[in-house]
Amino acid sequence: MQKNSPPSTDKSTGKPSRKALVAAHAARPAQVIEELRPGQSIELLKELHILTREGKLNQDARRKLKQVYHLYQFIEPLLNEVCASAQGFTLADHGAGKSYLGFILYDLFFNVAHAGEKVNGHIHGIETRAELVEKSRLLAARLGFANMSFLNLSVQEATTSTALPPTVDIVTALHACDTATDDAIAFGLAKEARHMVLVPCCQAEVAGVLKKSRALNLNKNPLAELWRHPLHTREFGSQITNVLRCLQLEANGYQVTVTELVGWEHSMKNELILASRPATPNAAKTRAAQTRLQQVLAELGLGELTERFAAAAAAPEPGLHSS
Ligand SMILES: C[S@@+](CC[C@H](N)C(=O)[O-])C[C@H]1O[C@@H](n2cnc3c(N)ncnc32)[C@H](O)[C@@H]1O
Repeated sequence: MQKNSPPSTDKSTGKPSRKALVAAHAARPAQVIEELRPGQSIELLKELHILTREGKLNQDARRKLKQVYHLYQFIEPLLNEVCASAQGFTLADHGAGKSYLGFILYDLFFNVAHAGEKVNGHIHGIETRAELVEKSRLLAARLGFANMSFLNLSVQEATTSTALPPTVDIVTALHACDTATDDAIAFGLAKEARHMVLVPCCQAEVAGVLKKSRALNLNKNPLAELWRHPLHTREFGSQITNVLRCLQLEANGYQVTVTELVGWEHSMKNELILASRPATPNAAKTRAAQTRLQQVLAELGLGELTERFAAAAAAPEPGLHSS
């Protein structure tokens, strides 16, 4: 493992000792010290082009790193919780791209927060672009990140792939394209994920259905003004997609929090959806969300998307109208 040549290792684990990591950190260039954590892999950050070859951080990379740190703040407590289980945890990152989220999570959790300890867990990156998967495999091997794997699969294929365990503890999807976030939710439901951390990308499907049923609904409901103009249709489509995703999660027993990733500079793409399923979900709240979900789909003329958002939800209540 080539991690900044740490000066000494913990004999029991073979990993760099915390003292050695802090000393190595103190010896780094001043600019880097502010942004990086003691023990973080400089080589990884260079490979991910977050640091330049000279170990410097440019403005774009600083923003990206800030985004991942912010996300890590939410994910670390979840990892600590699932890490306590005897069988070890599994995290699946969907639409992984270059897997910078998976790699940085791994580095911060396995190598920084738990330096010198044995961590029983595994991170899987799921990505359709074969060349990115291959690059990630090579990088993980070179860095000695042994508890990481990369699967050249779509999210849908991953749901039934034998390369993944039958249950997964945490699902992440950071800007997974279009409906890949929805597939990630379906994956999480099928794999009984305890936590899902989702930062959706734009989704065109709902806007497309709104557009189709526009003529129909404009006459019926004055709120259809919300999607009369194409730009509004797109934005309202994005907004309502995330509302439906949250209701879908709640309709399956999850407790959902929605917050901002960092700033709102990328408009609709900075919504962070955090969903956790308690051991005993609140039955009344779950039922209420199932009903609400059906109602929203019906009110907005999105009945054809029932399979996507409400497949597992209860049948509509008697008397509930559909358009
Ligand atoms: C915008 S990139 C985000 C990558 C990474 N999560 C990040 O935030 O840097 C979206 C990635 O999702 C992948 N992707 C799109 N649809 C997918 C699907 N259905 N299954 C798996 N990966 C998918 C794309 O190939 C692309 O690499």
